[in-house]
Amino acid sequence: MAIGIDKIGFFTSPYYLDIVDLAHARNEEPNKFLIGIGQKKQSVIPPTQDVVTLAANAAEKILSTADKQQIDMIIFGTETGIDNSKSAAIYIQSLLGISNQARSFEIKQACYGGTAGLQMGVEHIRLHPDSKVLVLAADIARYGINTPGEVTQGGGAVAMLLAADPQILEIEDKRTFYSDNIMDFWRPLYRKDAVVDGHYSNEIYIDFFKRTWELYQQKYNRQLDDFSSLIFHLPYTKMGLKALRSIIDESNHPQTLLAQFEASRVYNALVGNLYTGSLYLSLISLLANSNQLAGGSLIGLFSYGSGAQGEFYSARISNRFDNKNLKREMTDLLANRQQLTIDQYQDMYRSALSLSNENQKFDLSNDSSDFVLAGRQDDQRLYQSQK
Ligand code: CAA
Repeated sequence: MAIGIDKIGFFTSPYYLDIVDLAHARNEEPNKFLIGIGQKKQSVIPPTQDVVTLAANAAEKILSTADKQQIDMIIFGTETGIDNSKSAAIYIQSLLGISNQARSFEIKQACYGGTAGLQMGVEHIRLHPDSKVLVLAADIARYGINTPGEVTQGGGAVAMLLAADPQILEIEDKRTFYSDNIMDFWRPLYRKDAVVDGHYSNEIYIDFFKRTWELYQQKYNRQLDDFSSLIFHLPYTKMGLKALRSIIDESNHPQTLLAQFEASRVYNALVGNLYTGSLYLSLISLLANSNQLAGGSLIGLFSYGSGAQGEFYSARISNRFDNKNLKREMTDLLANRQQLTIDQYQDMYRSALSLSNENQKFDLSNDSSDFVLAGRQDDQRLYQSQK
């Protein structure tokens, strides 16, 4: 029985910062950011959006009323959680009107949380073929103003509906893992921005990629030439290119793999890092922008979560997949964002970091998203539908 991604949706903030403006403000050569890092724009998240609203906006676009009744598991992967106890999944369930006869919970292992949720959901459907599982991967990447990581900031959410006989991607039961206790990137409970040892994190990422790729080859007797594309967790898009280049000599068709990689980083370069969702935004980018994905094409996916967990797994494009709607929706979403000046970005960044626990109401006049965070009252977040 084929199991995998039946529907996929994406949402990000209505605001972005142009990376060339950031380079000028930080006295950096623009090509360092455009080519050396591989980013063009980054989403800037206003106080009216958090991981719950980002994920609700992504999921609402893909779910039918029938899906909402059939879903019996909601898994929310994030490292930007809004509560130390209650899961973001419960809020999604009520905001979207998903059946109460569901397991709803949140999971965490840095950027790996989306993949952990996806694989757990696939295994649930293997045991219960009539089930549908909603997997959400949403984050806001913050490193701080004037830090080396600033150019890689971003945020957004990917929503995936998993089912048997999926329309988009069939996940194979072939995957390899590697984990170890590494201090490359983390965020203590009292911090809103990350602590990172940037160059070390790059090294560990490549190390874990090579380990899981080699384990995969040995375990399943497959070579690089068996794959039509390899896609990666993209903290910034050059990172994936570095990983691909580290094994490209094993390929007899390097130009094809590099062209597929270019298709897979189009949207990530315009959004920035969204931690748990970055690999799946890259998947959306490949699906929407590649013209070489026939039904049955084999894709390799590398997932990495600092701290650290790596997983390499494989999947096949469904024979029923058609990318026209996905491409149109992504183009519309990303074209309709508002550009911020550096000062506006810095103000929005600082206001998100300095939010107090007091009762407050946010100005909603500049955020017309379906779901918004309207304010806080008595330690509760006030979510609102504007549909
Ligand atoms: N034209 C073209 N390229 C240029 C250039 C120019 N004028 N000037 C510099 N470059 C290139 C450099 O050669 C370098 O390329 P290589 O990496 O291929 O050598 C690239 O631009 C970056 O230059 P630096 O290494 O000097 O940049 P930096 O020290 O300012 O920081 C960084 C880069 C470490 C990635 C930093 O942005 C950072 O800390 N980012 C956050 C951490 C991160 O994303 N880590 C990734 C792995 S961890 C992970 O994946 C989990 C996660 O999501 C966080």
